[in-house]
Amino acid sequence: MKEPSKDTKLKEFLTLSLQKCLHFVEAQSGSIFLVDKKKQELVLEVFQNTRGVDLEGLRQKLGEGVSGMVATNKQPLLVKDANTFPRTSTGTFHDYKSKSFLSVPFEYRGDLLGVLNVTDRTKGDSFSSDDLTTVLHVCHYLGIAIYSLKRYLHSQRAANERLRQEIKVLQNDLAGARKFSSLGKMVGGLVHELNNPLDGTIRYINLALECSKDDEVVSDYLLEAKQGVTRMANFVRSLLDFSWGMSSTSSFIEVNRTVDECLFSLGNYIKANQVKIKRDFAAYLPKIADYRLKVVVSNLIKNACDAMNKEGGVLTVVTSLENDCIKIVFSDTGCGMDSDLQKKIFEPFFTTKNMGEGSGLGLAISYEVVERYNGDISVESSLNRGTTFTVTLPIEREDVYPRETLDSR
Ligand SMILES: Nc1ncnc2c1ncn2[C@@H]1O[C@H](COP(=O)(O)OP(=O)(O)OP(=O)(O)O)[C@@H](O)[C@H]1O
Ligand SMILES: [Mg+2]
Repeated sequence: MKEPSKDTKLKEFLTLSLQKCLHFVEAQSGSIFLVDKKKQELVLEVFQNTRGVDLEGLRQKLGEGVSGMVATNKQPLLVKDANTFPRTSTGTFHDYKSKSFLSVPFEYRGDLLGVLNVTDRTKGDSFSSDDLTTVLHVCHYLGIAIYSLKRYLHSQRAANERLRQEIKVLQNDLAGARKFSSLGKMVGGLVHELNNPLDGTIRYINLALECSKDDEVVSDYLLEAKQGVTRMANFVRSLLDFSWGMSSTSSFIEVNRTVDECLFSLGNYIKANQVKIKRDFAAYLPKIADYRLKVVVSNLIKNACDAMNKEGGVLTVVTSLENDCIKIVFSDTGCGMDSDLQKKIFEPFFTTKNMGEGSGLGLAISYEVVERYNGDISVESSLNRGTTFTVTLPIEREDVYPRETLDSR
């Protein structure tokens, strides 16, 4: 079974080289073999003959036949009269009934690449030593060119492979994003169904508590029920942040101030977890749209505190302006995460926290909010050493000049 050539470019180049060489030495037939190192064979890549002999895909063991011997010896061969040349039964030469022929190996820096054969001189006479010199020149450049071309094709294959890998990563990201967005839509509907009955239930529990002040047991039961329902209501509120139905707001916020407000409102939580805060804020940051950045910042601060809750630690928050993007970096000295855990943390409902302590929605919601900014949220972490979350928010023109300012210009 003949194999189709994989590298059309290489084949085109070889065909052209053979044609030129035949033209230079006034010959009608010729062939170029390339070395297949693994199989220790020569493979016929291109050929031209006058007798219509089909030689495509022909293979020749190194050391066997005329071309095989020339390749192994790395010595050119000029035969002026084939009748005086001891022919070999395993060679290809016996197929040519040529009087005279040339067989020349080509290499690059001592590395054998192939053999070029020339037969059937147009005038019917023998090839001369001048012809041999010409073919030797051609083979010299053929060696350099094939080596370079192979290297180029190899690097292109490597680049294509890299591209394939990148596409695969993007497809995975896309699949993840789709998962989040469809979940967002579903959750949006669910939240509307749950919100009102939950509010009503809490109101009725409060009324029942008023009426049962004198009965300690009933009051205890009702307080227990209220606690559970309140937890459910908080959970539903978190889901609300995740839902698509949320209307976008037209107001603008200052990032530094937002971070400070979150640190302030989580003050007790930070203290309870013995976390020390270090702030390093950019002196100037443009205002950005309010797509609930607060939800992201609060969750990242809370997660950092949770990660340090055993022995306390330091949470460093840095804001900066880089390449038309606002960067907010949260670095903690907490428990950190191994690479398996890092792959899952943005999935909705993924949590390692105890029942009632975490719903596993914080980062899924944060991801969604950052998406609204066309931004990026990334994580770097090492187990038992700490974690850094980086939020990157590109600045739109409207962020630098809030809409009110643009309208009045
Ligand atoms: N700074 C951090 N250090 C170590 N682990 C973290 C950190 N931030 C997040 N994680 C891990 O990622 C998981 C998912 O975080 P995420 O904020 O989405 O949910 P949660 O904090 O568990 O619950 P919720 O935010 O809904 O209250 C956490 O349970 C925790 O295992
Ligand atoms: Mg969280």
